[in-house]
Amino acid sequence: MNIILLGPPGSGKGTQAALLSGKLRTPHISTGDILRAAKGTELGNRAAEYMNRGELVPDSVLIEMIRDRLSQADCAKAFILDGYPRTIPQADALVDILAGLDRRLDLVLNIEVPDAELITRLSARRVCKCGATYHLIFNPPEKEGVCDRCGKRLYHRDDDKEESIKNRLSVYKKQTQPLIDYYRNLGLLAAIDGSGSIEQISGEIYSVVKARPE
Ligand code: AP5
Ligand code: MG
Ligand code: ZN
Repeated sequence: MNIILLGPPGSGKGTQAALLSGKLRTPHISTGDILRAAKGTELGNRAAEYMNRGELVPDSVLIEMIRDRLSQADCAKAFILDGYPRTIPQADALVDILAGLDRRLDLVLNIEVPDAELITRLSARRVCKCGATYHLIFNPPEKEGVCDRCGKRLYHRDDDKEESIKNRLSVYKKQTQPLIDYYRNLGLLAAIDGSGSIEQISGEIYSVVKARPE
């Protein structure tokens, strides 16, 4: 299945994409993780200027990045996109990219969480370079400051500061929220209540995915 996880910053896209990826054995593609992993390269440094301010990296950069990633062999049967698309031009480009691969989208899961909860989640988030995500209170690692999955040191994202968080939420509302109607009109949207526990939400997502004909 070709799946998109949509939702505001802090809604749990990364957390849920990782769990679903494990259950379905499908690659989890996070554009934010790809951009952060590019740190030190020309692309990574240019992207970091936008990311630290909480703004979107230009569409042209993301479209080429996704075109390249989706044409790799591990995505040949299925993928889970986390953080792409974030604008209408990115969504339109995805249609073309998939058509070129003789594929199409199957499902868009929109994770809904109230704004106040998003801020609480992001301000105490800790992440690992391997893509794992933690929260100091809601989802702490077994050993403080260390990733359960790979043993590396956890870090606080540069854009998880109050000013950047506020800007990310307003950028989301202006540029990304219109995608909800875009995918609803295509009959691809499923709403997920993202305010319960991580396990509850993961169970709901899995049942929605399984109920869809492939
Ligand atoms: P990206 O890395 O995608 O960040 P984001 O969209 O702001 O989303 P987050 O990663 O902050 O949140 P999430 O929904 O993944 O939540 P998480 O699972 O971590 O993008 C970063 C930047 O890169 C962008 O601002 C932009 O500059 C650039 N970029 C990336 N893609 C782009 C694109 N396509 N176009 C242009 N620019 C792009 O969970 C959050 C916290 O809550 C964690 O601590 C977690 O443990 C906790 N948590 C999760 N679920 C629950 C729960 N149910 N209950 C309690 N706590 C929970
Ligand atoms: Mg994320
Ligand atoms: Zn790790």
